[in-house]
Amino acid sequence: MEQRTLGRSGLTVPAVGMGTWSTFDVRGAQAEANARVVVDHALAAGARFFDSSPMYGQAERVLGATLQERRGDALVATKIWTPSTAEGLRQAERALAFYNGFVDVYQIHNLVNWRAHLKTLERLQADGRIATIGATHYQPSAFGELRAVMETGRITAIQIPYNPRERDVERDILPLAADLGIGVIVMRPFAEGALLRRRPRDEDFAPLAAFGVRTWPQALLKWILSDTRCHVAIPATSKPARMSENAAAGEAPWFDRDARDLVARLARSA
Ligand SMILES: NC(=O)c1ccc[n+]([C@@H]2O[C@H](COP(=O)([O-])OP(=O)(O)OC[C@H]3O[C@@H](n4cnc5c(N)ncnc54)[C@H](OP(=O)(O)O)[C@@H]3O)[C@@H](O)[C@H]2O)c1
Repeated sequence: MEQRTLGRSGLTVPAVGMGTWSTFDVRGAQAEANARVVVDHALAAGARFFDSSPMYGQAERVLGATLQERRGDALVATKIWTPSTAEGLRQAERALAFYNGFVDVYQIHNLVNWRAHLKTLERLQADGRIATIGATHYQPSAFGELRAVMETGRITAIQIPYNPRERDVERDILPLAADLGIGVIVMRPFAEGALLRRRPRDEDFAPLAAFGVRTWPQALLKWILSDTRCHVAIPATSKPARMSENAAAGEAPWFDRDARDLVARLARSA
């Protein structure tokens, strides 16, 4: 697994990590045991960066329960998501308890009440309880505001959508992140699974075998990570074997221009 530096944060992250939206919003012994096996596979493959949010129901708690004694082997990113400043602090205290008192990347989800939550996170950072502060948004219509937050100089990571169907970040966000030394976490690498529902035939992407690609999900992840302004992609899955499959895309060689164009073309027609 290739390791990348998450911008000025200085945090070393694996190129492939894991998201938890919907896949870890589960209850019950069987579903939670399955989540643990997904995390086992992620850690075994070096995909040790995990993203969650209080927006994802049970996911923060379930992720914390799967880590426990091996929290030190993982990097945890989570979020504050609430219009209330007081509730924001409560969310952070709850999450910190799930992760043995420390969160590696604390993000403001969808920029909700970001001015107030930024102050909360700066206090937690000064107390040594979080390492890095970030902000996320999934909608291009909010990218103007995201740029304004980046330009404050007070965050060192962003989380944005990027895949061959959602390329808006190429215009301003990725260049600005690179200029400011801001770490980039890529959400929705498969467009919430939409890019996997109708797949190209294996022979269509056979030329990508030279880059170590065996499957279409790996082609999509390599397409993202071949843009080295992106530091970690966080595909979500509820299936342990798919976690291993996804993690295998986090290694060089990276795509050249022709390989990237091929994936973009196939994604358009899939
Ligand atoms: N969605 C958003 O707007 C949003 C917003 C903010 C942050 N995020 C973060 O970004 C993470 C990733 O985004 P996402 O969860 O929306 O979507 P995604 O990672 O683009 O796609 C997830 C879907 O792909 C399927 N999948 C994963 N690996 C696969 C494989 N190798 N083969 C076949 N199917 C595969 C999963 O189904 P199975 O479980 O059946 O494998 C799941 O339904 C989230 O979990 C969250 O942490 C998302």
